[in-house]
Amino acid sequence: MINSSDYFIKFQWSHLFDEIKKFSLQYIKDESSFGNHTVVAWPELPDSIVALLPIRPDLLQVFRVRPNVAGGIHKDGVGRLCALNVPLSGSDGSIFQWYADSPEIVENFIPTAPARRLAIYSEHGLPMPIVETQTELPTLVNNNSWHRVNNVANSEFRWTASVRFNGNPTFANVNAALLKMGQTPQ
Ligand SMILES: [Fe+2]
Repeated sequence: MINSSDYFIKFQWSHLFDEIKKFSLQYIKDESSFGNHTVVAWPELPDSIVALLPIRPDLLQVFRVRPNVAGGIHKDGVGRLCALNVPLSGSDGSIFQWYADSPEIVENFIPTAPARRLAIYSEHGLPMPIVETQTELPTLVNNNSWHRVNNVANSEFRWTASVRFNGNPTFANVNAALLKMGQTPQ
């Protein structure tokens, strides 16, 4: 049975998420000069935020997705089991979708290292997502299952801060650590 809590956990805003957002907002810049779904910055997290996290982070990325486009379906690949996403701007109309290991997906993926990407930008012939969620709250996401960001119905740029953790802990492990430090699921 499909259980959405194996794919995403949404959290209420807290001091931790507010600080990540405040720090990351400075990387929102000119919208015209980037591609559809782009990492615009890989800043080092300040010690004050590292100290708030329950597991040492090794990467912060600031993502930007254009209005009215969908990202390609992919798994994040080696060393990328999960990510903690903090919405910065334009996330209310955006959806995060997961797909089963269906023949349509598995037979069409294009292997690249370290990520495995399947770029399907048309909805034609695409299987239905098995799980999806809006992205308006801080969300721990499982990146080890086929997924994409769907911004098709959103007329705004979606900006997101995404934290990865040192040692590539599992989705379940990061979720347990966040709960243990007192973060509140939605
Ligand atoms: Fe991803």
